[in-house]
Amino acid sequence: MGTPLLEITGLHVLVEGKEILKGISLSVEKGQVHALMGPNGSGKSTLSNTLMGHPKYQVTQGKILFQGEDLTALKTDARARGGIFLAFQYPTAIQGVSVANFIRTAMKARFGEKFQPKEFRKELKAAMASLGVDESFATRYVNDGFSGGEKKRHEILQMAMLKPLLAILDETDSGLDIDALRTVSEGINRLRGPSLGILLITHYQRLLNYIEPDVVHVLVDGRIVRSGGKELALELEAKGYAPYETAKTEQKETVPQ
Ligand SMILES: Nc1ncnc2c1ncn2[C@@H]1O[C@H](COP(=O)(O)OP(=O)(O)OP(=O)(O)O)[C@@H](O)[C@H]1O
Ligand SMILES: [Mg+2]
Repeated sequence: MGTPLLEITGLHVLVEGKEILKGISLSVEKGQVHALMGPNGSGKSTLSNTLMGHPKYQVTQGKILFQGEDLTALKTDARARGGIFLAFQYPTAIQGVSVANFIRTAMKARFGEKFQPKEFRKELKAAMASLGVDESFATRYVNDGFSGGEKKRHEILQMAMLKPLLAILDETDSGLDIDALRTVSEGINRLRGPSLGILLITHYQRLLNYIEPDVVHVLVDGRIVRSGGKELALELEAKGYAPYETAKTEQKETVPQ
């Protein structure tokens, strides 16, 4: 197997002085898809933002290794250039910057000399077509007036163009209609391959019918309380998080004050 693509060990993270992640360990191999599920507020987006190097998220303990290298000292732009990509749960609008310019700039930063401006338009057009995105999208300002589904497609369009090594998809399925869910999932599946690792955050088992995960993790109150195969998602769908929430309460009661 060699060096894992992403190796997180004993990760503790503070946000605004409050501990949100309380000792997470997780290892993603190249080519794998790991699904991360958990109740609202359990820390899924906190983990995504921490992996991307958001300055608000302070690592107090533990390690994050990407291809064997410690990420903690690297700024967000360096992580992105290195091939880490985050599809945001809530993508924000960027006034005055068109989708084409935004993606072109990101690609220049990521690929440097290897970026081919001549090929760019063609590649963008093909990627948009395969994601069922209208051509007029390219000249619109990023996320400005986009519908919920268009925002999510735009995230996957960026992913298709930037060809990351590690993609963190934070609830990319939320707000998608049934057809869009299929199109976006097909888009993600096309990008799957031996060098790409995916951390797929979702609330719904139905996404995992389209994108089959190798491993499913359950995150409750900042800890991974269980990991298993794709059948774990079915069990969660049937039973919810209640069994784990109980465990959380018991755990709290035994912690000395
Ligand atoms: N920037 C921040 N400032 C203050 N609190 C924060 C911040 N980011 C996260 N938190 C808190 O951390 C906890 C975990 O939030 P997070 O967004 O990681 O949850 P989540 O698992 O992604 O939930 P959801 O399923 O609703 O998206 C919440 O209690 C949230 O209020
Ligand atoms: Mg979230």
